[in-house]
Amino acid sequence: MKEIRCGYPHNRLRRLRGNGALADSVRETILRPKHMMLPLFVVEGKGVKTSISSLHGVDHISVDRLCEVVEPAMEAGIKRFLLFGVPEEKDPRGTSANDGKAPAQRAVSDMKKRYGDSILVATDVCLCQYTDHGHCGILREDGSVDNDATLRRLAETAVSHARSGAHMVAPSAMMDGQVGAIRNALDETGFTETSIMGYSAKFHSAFYGPFREAAHSAPGKGDRSSYQMDPANGREAIREALQDEEEGADILMVKPSLLYMDVISEIRKNSLLPMAAYMVSGEYMMLRHAAEAGALDWRKSMLEAHMALRRSGADIVITYGAVEVARWLNRS
Ligand code: PBG
Repeated sequence: MKEIRCGYPHNRLRRLRGNGALADSVRETILRPKHMMLPLFVVEGKGVKTSISSLHGVDHISVDRLCEVVEPAMEAGIKRFLLFGVPEEKDPRGTSANDGKAPAQRAVSDMKKRYGDSILVATDVCLCQYTDHGHCGILREDGSVDNDATLRRLAETAVSHARSGAHMVAPSAMMDGQVGAIRNALDETGFTETSIMGYSAKFHSAFYGPFREAAHSAPGKGDRSSYQMDPANGREAIREALQDEEEGADILMVKPSLLYMDVISEIRKNSLLPMAAYMVSGEYMMLRHAAEAGALDWRKSMLEAHMALRRSGADIVITYGAVEVARWLNRS
């Protein structure tokens, strides 16, 4: 009897790669427009649609012109939106965060009126755009963040978004107990169907720079390291995610994403919940600047980065490139 050989030259993995039709059918990961969610920055005023200098290809937009961004996105197959309000009024408690007439709330109700349930409208729930000190929570006199006082403000804000018609709220302040506090408040006010996407593992990252210019939300004094996670900690990220799951999160998010794919895949193994990954402003601009300098092919590198996030375990990729990537995918 002939000896049975193991490995090479018996096995040749290249056999699956040589024929395009075969390679196509054994491809393990699929990236489609339905896997992407587009962030929107909604400002006060009328007739505003100005490009954000720190975030190429992204606009500050007032409610009356939202359709100019939303409708082309819908045509490309992007039907999920994450809204950030950029208010003019700021104070120590972030009072305008739960003002029914603030940009985020008005944008949500306008989008609900126009498009109903044919799209998903999610809102970022945080105080940093609304506080004059720029922190994500309420400060005590000594300047430290008061976790439990912040929970009440986050819950009020989430309820106000739900009241305007948000399908989903996404708490991003990294306060302990934020998902549970919001779930309770939504349930008590009758919004039992409003879902929660927790920014479960949100790291204290240098890659939020361009966003802070877009959202006018940089902290005046100090940094966010007392509430956002240490980039060194992977196990702790799983604890954060599991805690959000226990508190009633419907989707778990990891942010940033490209530098934290190990965290995405570990949480994927430890939870049955759907997952989102946020390709943050600095990650997006890192690729964009490299492409603009001629070092990378913009289309290929974006497609690869988004596919890699799907492969690592993300069901949804939150990305400033959603529409452009969707158009490329639709053509292929
Ligand atoms: C609000 C918030 C931030 C981002 C999303 N929600 C900024 C921050 O925490 O400093 C960053 C998104 C990005 O960089 O694209 N807390």
